[in-house]
Amino acid sequence: MNFHTRKWIKPEDLNPNGTLFGGSLLRWIDEEAAIYAVIQLDNPRVVTKYMSEINFLSSAREGDIIELGITATHFGRTSLRLRCEVRNKITRKSILTISDIVFVNMGADGLPAPHGKTEITYASDRFDDEPDNQPAS
Ligand SMILES: CC(C)(COP(=O)(O)OP(=O)(O)OC[C@H]1O[C@@H](n2cnc3c(N)ncnc32)[C@H](O)[C@@H]1OP(=O)(O)O)[C@@H](O)C(=O)NCCC(=O)NCCS
Repeated sequence: MNFHTRKWIKPEDLNPNGTLFGGSLLRWIDEEAAIYAVIQLDNPRVVTKYMSEINFLSSAREGDIIELGITATHFGRTSLRLRCEVRNKITRKSILTISDIVFVNMGADGLPAPHGKTEITYASDRFDDEPDNQPAS
């Protein structure tokens, strides 16, 4: 699992208990997962369909740095299933895991559409100028 996104916890991200507000974290996760799905399915029209149980295992305080990781677990016909983990870089604890997030690939008609993808692609597969894509000299 790649942890691409880091967040620095600021006062506006806190709940009255002085720890990270769950709603802020869920918004970041949904956005991170949507970006992942858009890139993997090569379609900006993806919608969140389903999220499995969310168990907040630990939290974060102002000044902590957290990182969000997403990976694809299954490419369906119109759907993409993802797994997510969020961890605290300062306390070195896992904040939560979500074992199943489902996005649906939508067509221009607003209905689920087959995406035709079957496996994870990487930046080096998508950009001509990625170092991995340079011909061996
Ligand atoms: C997304 C939406 C179009 C799907 O409609 P639907 O009638 O369930 O469509 P389908 O039955 O064709 O299912 C589409 C895919 O979702 C999957 N799916 C449907 N319900 C699911 C569920 N509860 N859990 C997991 N996957 C599910 C199906 O298996 C299918 O995947 P596949 O093609 O890879 O097999 C519809 O539910 C919707 O518009 N929901 C609102 C989405 C939204 O607004 N999200 C933002 C959150 S506020």
